Amino acid sequence: MQSGMNPWSSNQTVDVDRLFAEFGIEPIGEVVQRLPEVPPFMRRGVVVGHRDYQVVADAIRNRTPFHVLTGFMPSGLPHLGHLMVMKEVVWHVQQGGNGYVAIADREAHAVRGISWEKCREFGREYLKALYALGFRGTTYYQSKNERLKDLAFEASTKVNFSDLAAIYGFGPETSLAHAVSVATQVADILFPQLDAGPAPTVVPVGLDQDPHLRLTRDVAHKFRMFTVEDRGDYISVRSKNAPVEALEAVHRAFPGSKKYSGHVDIMGRPYALVDDTAREIEIAHGGFGFYLPSSTYHIFMPGLQGGKMSSSVPESLFGFYEPDTSVRKKVMAAMTGGRMTLEEQRRLGGEPDRCSVYLLNLFHMLEDDEEFADLRRRCESGEMTCGQCKKETWERVQAFLVDLRDKMDAVEHLADEV
Ligand code: TRP
Ligand code: SF4
Repeated sequence: MQSGMNPWSSNQTVDVDRLFAEFGIEPIGEVVQRLPEVPPFMRRGVVVGHRDYQVVADAIRNRTPFHVLTGFMPSGLPHLGHLMVMKEVVWHVQQGGNGYVAIADREAHAVRGISWEKCREFGREYLKALYALGFRGTTYYQSKNERLKDLAFEASTKVNFSDLAAIYGFGPETSLAHAVSVATQVADILFPQLDAGPAPTVVPVGLDQDPHLRLTRDVAHKFRMFTVEDRGDYISVRSKNAPVEALEAVHRAFPGSKKYSGHVDIMGRPYALVDDTAREIEIAHGGFGFYLPSSTYHIFMPGLQGGKMSSSVPESLFGFYEPDTSVRKKVMAAMTGGRMTLEEQRRLGGEPDRCSVYLLNLFHMLEDDEEFADLRRRCESGEMTCGQCKKETWERVQAFLVDLRDKMDAVEHLADEV
């Protein structure tokens, strides 16, 4: 099997439809209707897909426990391209999620050769930005989290080299540290459940990170002692590798159940009750009882200049502490969907769907739906010139950055405590 996707590749073109068809990512569509309040990134088509998000949406609606986790590789300073996933994590925390953020210094060191000192320096900036945007919860550096590293080792017992070759295209030349950093990311994704108990967990990521989710869901499944299946008339709890006492405990927990070799059949009980009980018994017998992690997938904002957004192309993005003059220049020079002449623009209107200034507003700078609809209308009607539009957008960007920097300065102590 070929992965068709390499999370470490710098030129990332992901074919959304193929990914969905081939790997079983669900379009985000229906599941958002379960949410009590739909965030801008879901309303505006930024988040396009998910795995098992329904359990998280239900937890939000029913106010039951859930975790949210993501990770950042500190291979440089945080910038515009990191803002979306930060907002997604913060939103889930505000919806009642128990928040976690990993600074993936093991990955940055193993894959990008970043020194530990630099990892710390960059990591601190990510954490400041997160706290400034309203994140509350647990944050850690992979290299400093002992329980995480133990979990990564345990996860490694469930992964072999042919899995890594199939999922990531790893070969004989791949460094062992790279493989260890993969196991560490698997551990990141499961860590909230180790730390605070099993519960649905959402991992908001870009589509490029899906291989890690597939691997982690596979590992979480292999860790389970039981599978619990609804067979219509009854519920079957099947042992995968449970100690005999654990299966016996399931039998005893449900008087009237029938025990066979390797499975227990339970009649007249709700699925959720049986599932929870099996999980508790598993944990009492030394298992983890992990839920398979859920995920959401967002598309990437193209660069301001119209190409890809990448830190190797400075004009494609701006940093949070970049001087105003420099950010202004980039916004004013951004690629627009404007026409060749002013006369044409007035007559035909602009083409927002091909415009990076429009996307900057869609992703980040204009959260109010009415104002945003108005921007589109003024663009398409030819009422607004691109020059005017860029000027207004720059003013929003500037206000946003002033506020963000103020807040980042104010939460420095939180980042330093990590
Ligand atoms: N690999 C991710 C990146 O390149 C960073 C990361 C590390 C991560 N651990 C994670 C992302 C856990 C999501 C969940 O950006
Ligand atoms: Fe883009 Fe604004 Fe020009 Fe429309 S008016 S094409 S949104 S810059």
